[in-house]
Amino acid sequence: MQTRPRINRWTQSRRDLIFGTSISQSLVQPHFVVAGENINQPIDGMPGIHRQSVDVLLETISNDVSIGLNAHMLFAVIESDQKDAMATVASDSQMHGIQAVRKLRERFGDQIVLFTDVCLCTATDHGHCGLLLDEHINNDQSVQRLVEIALANAEAGVDYVSVSDMMDGRVSAVREAFESHGFHSVGVLSYAVKYASSFYGPFREAASSAPVFGDRRSHQMDIRSGYSEAIFEAKSDESEGADIIMVKPGLPYLDVLRQVADAVNRPVAVYNVSGEYTMVMQANQESDQCGNMVREILHAFKRAGADIIVSYHARDAITQQWIE
Ligand code: PBG
Repeated sequence: MQTRPRINRWTQSRRDLIFGTSISQSLVQPHFVVAGENINQPIDGMPGIHRQSVDVLLETISNDVSIGLNAHMLFAVIESDQKDAMATVASDSQMHGIQAVRKLRERFGDQIVLFTDVCLCTATDHGHCGLLLDEHINNDQSVQRLVEIALANAEAGVDYVSVSDMMDGRVSAVREAFESHGFHSVGVLSYAVKYASSFYGPFREAASSAPVFGDRRSHQMDIRSGYSEAIFEAKSDESEGADIIMVKPGLPYLDVLRQVADAVNRPVAVYNVSGEYTMVMQANQESDQCGNMVREILHAFKRAGADIIVSYHARDAITQQWIE
């Protein structure tokens, strides 16, 4: 298996994100991208976060870049009439999420670091993260679809695909496909240690990705699981060629983050997920501790070993000067 340690050094913006020492350099802002034009739709339960069409997203990210927020993670939100059993639209080069990558790359070049979420749940009509066979997720067929989606994003110019599905073997499958198609500088961020958490609720609303029946416990990790499985998952993905290892959610798993950061030799990311964001925002509807809380949370992630922090608070943390 070809490893590509240079992927994380490829551009100045990747180096600043991964190796920069300040919290603000470590931040990644998530975005929800919808089809259409001139759409800027607030998301219930996630005050301050919107679903945006590509034209609006370009302006949002342009403002973000002007304040030094250069790393961005895109989630394509698919209309229900576009979904099917195979998540066909997810790898369509004309799909708005992939168009967004192309346009952002055209406009900002290497100044930004772009991640796209690669999973099937936003594009399958049943909302599961894989293809179903008799109501069970078929791992290896799902991996083939994930590879096709990853390739479409690489083709459009993404920096890293963020594989969030938790299928076995998808990191090496994507790496091999990138190698055979000549995408030697496109990386893989693996959601390596991802728990079947109750903190994803607001996101599933925002991304319309809740499973129609059942849950995600056959692939996402059991919340009772100890450190050994977390380290096993992280190390497997590291050996499969992941460029960045993610732990998710963040706050309830700070201890796991520390263990994983100590165990792997790749940069570690943490996802401060939607439910964690909503908790802080709702607690501060009538008080002004938001900044102090966010500051404390971001420092906790750093202290626990995060090199990269994906957070819906990213923009506010910088513009409100909650962090140095
Ligand atoms: C897709 C995916 C999810 C999140 C990121 N990618 C939802 C899930 O696994 O159900 C959650 C992010 C958040 O809650 O902010 N599989």
